[in-house]
Amino acid sequence: MTAKRIDGKAFAAGVRAQVADHVARLKADHGLVPGLAVVLVGEDPASQVYVGAKGKQTVEVGMASFEHRLPAETSEAELLALIDRLNRDPQVHGILVQLPLPPHLNSDLVINALDPAKDVDGFHISNVGRLGTGQKSMVPCTPLGCLMMLRDHLGNLSGMNAVVVGRSNIVGKPMAQLLLGDSCTVTIAHSRTKDLAAVCRGADILVAAVGRPEMITGDFVKPGATVIDVGINRIERDGKTKLVGDVDHASAAEVAGAITPVPGGVGPMTIACLLANTLTACCRANG
Ligand code: GUN
Repeated sequence: MTAKRIDGKAFAAGVRAQVADHVARLKADHGLVPGLAVVLVGEDPASQVYVGAKGKQTVEVGMASFEHRLPAETSEAELLALIDRLNRDPQVHGILVQLPLPPHLNSDLVINALDPAKDVDGFHISNVGRLGTGQKSMVPCTPLGCLMMLRDHLGNLSGMNAVVVGRSNIVGKPMAQLLLGDSCTVTIAHSRTKDLAAVCRGADILVAAVGRPEMITGDFVKPGATVIDVGINRIERDGKTKLVGDVDHASAAEVAGAITPVPGGVGPMTIACLLANTLTACCRANG
């Protein structure tokens, strides 16, 4: 069996088109322009690429993009002062602080200084608590993108066995909450899980978010399962730099019913969901 490819790039283009359409109507009917502020501290090369892509796509859907690139030695007080300013700025509906922050900055403190209504990453403790208790919240972009692709491919997820490999605050934990919200039976597995392959083989839905290149091989996959690969790992192979996921795509695709590629799977959906969350924040702020 060769798995169906779940095309995140095409799906994300569709989400962006819907967002752009809604933004155009907000502008025409209410004179409103949703605004997203992205804060980057330091010169981490991967973060610079992500922040550049976010700014470009924000403008492409008709929103206002406010980029704040701060030096690595920015103090906590300076960063908190900027966040306070953005919290109070009516043109800014969404704020994203790119992670990881330099080690001298306390990211929990910084994230929890955001106005929860503008926290388009869904990382503020109030949004985390709201998601966990089924209240209206901002939902983290990567797991939201995964959920959208799963619903699109599988329809109703109720009763399915879902295994999430990885327990990060950004992906693993909120992904598990979202799947639970869709009535899946959810297991959170991780690098210390005993007989991880056997646990994964029980999954109708397998979400890999461990951050280890090609760790999930075909023998971890139940025949016909839907596999979502959240990993983005840069590896050297045959003298070239290559992007690979947390799933060994070739062997997993032999067994799975459907699978997301890397690149072109989850990655593009993350930014599309960020734009959708910014639009949501703007609509909520303006009644
Ligand atoms: N760094 C890696 N992923 C993310 C994300 O989804 N949001 C933010 N703010 N930083 C990240």
